Amino acid sequence: MSRRSDRPETHSSLGGNDMKKNVMKRAVLAGALSLAAGWLAAGPATAQETGGEDALVQRGAYISRLADCVACHTGLHGIKYAGGLKIATPIGDIYSTNITPDKETGIGTYTLADFTRALREGVRKDGATMYPAMPYDAFSRMSDSDIAALYAYFMHGVAPVHMENRASTISWPLSMRWPLAIWRALFAPAPKPMNTTEGSDDVARGEYIVTGPGHCGSCHTPRGWAMQLKAYDASGGPAFLAGGAPIDNWVAPSLRSDPVQGIGKWSEDDIVTFLKSGRIDHSAVFGGMADVVGWSTQYYTDSDLRSIAKYLKSLPDVPVPPVTVKDAATTTQAVASADPAGHTGASVYLRECAICHQNDGSGVNRMFPPLDGNPVIVSDNPTSVANVIVNGGVLPPTNIAPSSVAMPGFAHGTHALSDADIAAVTNFIREGWSNQAHGNVTAADIRTLRTTGAPLSFAAWAHSTTGFASQTPQPYGAGWTFSPQTHAGVDEAQ
Ligand code: HEC
Ligand code: HEC
Ligand code: HEC
Repeated sequence: MSRRSDRPETHSSLGGNDMKKNVMKRAVLAGALSLAAGWLAAGPATAQETGGEDALVQRGAYISRLADCVACHTGLHGIKYAGGLKIATPIGDIYSTNITPDKETGIGTYTLADFTRALREGVRKDGATMYPAMPYDAFSRMSDSDIAALYAYFMHGVAPVHMENRASTISWPLSMRWPLAIWRALFAPAPKPMNTTEGSDDVARGEYIVTGPGHCGSCHTPRGWAMQLKAYDASGGPAFLAGGAPIDNWVAPSLRSDPVQGIGKWSEDDIVTFLKSGRIDHSAVFGGMADVVGWSTQYYTDSDLRSIAKYLKSLPDVPVPPVTVKDAATTTQAVASADPAGHTGASVYLRECAICHQNDGSGVNRMFPPLDGNPVIVSDNPTSVANVIVNGGVLPPTNIAPSSVAMPGFAHGTHALSDADIAAVTNFIREGWSNQAHGNVTAADIRTLRTTGAPLSFAAWAHSTTGFASQTPQPYGAGWTFSPQTHAGVDEAQ
């Protein structure tokens, strides 16, 4: 393990006029610093602000959307940016902090330099290293000008809120922060800011958003034995965006071009529409991604969404074993003829699910997602599928698709199913129609998920513990990640 330095130069730093760019960068930075100094002296925003400052603050507001600062830094039912969202780790819970410009409890005393260091290197103003739950490993790619605009926004566009930070529940000695600094030295990528052209919808812009502010890899890339991401961009090989560990019991599937477990069947338009509205004909957003769409990507400009789609589509193929196509009609017939004495999964499906998802698992366009051929369902790790059946899900309203559609949870209330029935129907849909996943979820798994909230663990995704790593003690346990709480279905304060 060594400090990562194998990332390619950024697209924009290729080419001959680096010096000129650096000079310009310094000028922008100096400009932002003096603007910021002016604001600190002038206090909160006034109507006399010049258009230039306003424009910078507004740009910062957009970058905050790109980076989804708000979803993590707002507690459930909490005040925007005042922190307090619980983020579970295997050793205890940590809480996001107050990043409003309050001088005592927020980041009101941060200078632009402090702020830049926090974002790119994960070091707080007081010098302590942060948990990489704050995705500074991705933000390390953010450009100087984006960070300066973001800073202007936080100092000037966000109202200060006096709210003390919540202490973590990690107990001593694991609560000591110095090991985090070692972790940072070993694993965090060296800051490599990328500069891209805003408003262009090219692949380089998409790479910037996905690997930088959008921090898509924090959820979609698997983590290694020390919880570090296995890859930060395409140069990191097939692990990049190959699907992550459960986060608040939602599994982020592969964004690579695998046609079964990834988004190989998605067109560029599908990706754009999904990120903008949360639904396309053959999929609907849920769980952790519902927060991402509801709080972040629905606000992206069309050109930024297009650039993301182009970038994801440009990722090199990961070879996948060929799959033999199964006859989907067999399952449809089993549902139609289900009787309780025969196939439990099929009869539960007919009784409880088919009304929305249909006998043939095809769903209803943009309302009820299809279950046949849905990557989420055949993902190696069945946690998401079990979680949505146990706890239900809410398809969040977005600006261009304002209706909110819900799926009921089946572990509680009038719809309550037994653990065994939930396991049976989970397995049924994972193996059903043309789906080829293993139906190996047990009633005991469901009980654990329901009562303790622990994700289902399966050998299939213990790939993070193979080779050298399997010989190494893993303080955090295998396959774990940071798990922020999900807002979707709890509060819509976006
Ligand atoms: C995935 C969740 C997540 C996202 C997204 C996120 N943060 Fe954080 N952030 C955290 C957590 C958790 C902490 C506290 C880390 C700790 O205590 O070690 C934190 C800490 C910070 C701090 C240090 C504050 C202090 O207490 O001194 C700053 C500054 C910060 N974040 C700014 C931002 C900004 C700006 C954005 C958007 C560009 C952002 N964060 C996005 C989770 C997140
Ligand atoms: C907080 C974790 C998280 C982050 C950050 C995140 N995702 Fe997701 N994503 C998920 C989860 C969980 C799912 C599965 C649920 C679903 O399909 O809605 C998902 C699903 C998706 C899907 C649908 C895949 C499929 O096969 O159904 C796409 C496309 C996607 N994410 C793109 C992105 C992009 C682009 C970004 C960065 C801008 C991103 N995600 C950031 C958690 C995340
Ligand atoms: C009242 C209609 C309704 C019923 C009944 C229903 N669902 Fe759903 N289901 C939905 C909706 C709406 C979503 C999208 C939820 C979201 O986006 O959070 C969904 C999502 C899902 C998903 C996630 C797929 C994805 O791509 O979003 C699975 C898996 C699922 N349902 C399985 C089932 C099973 C199994 C049953 C029966 C035990 C069932 N559903 C019953 C409406 C329903």
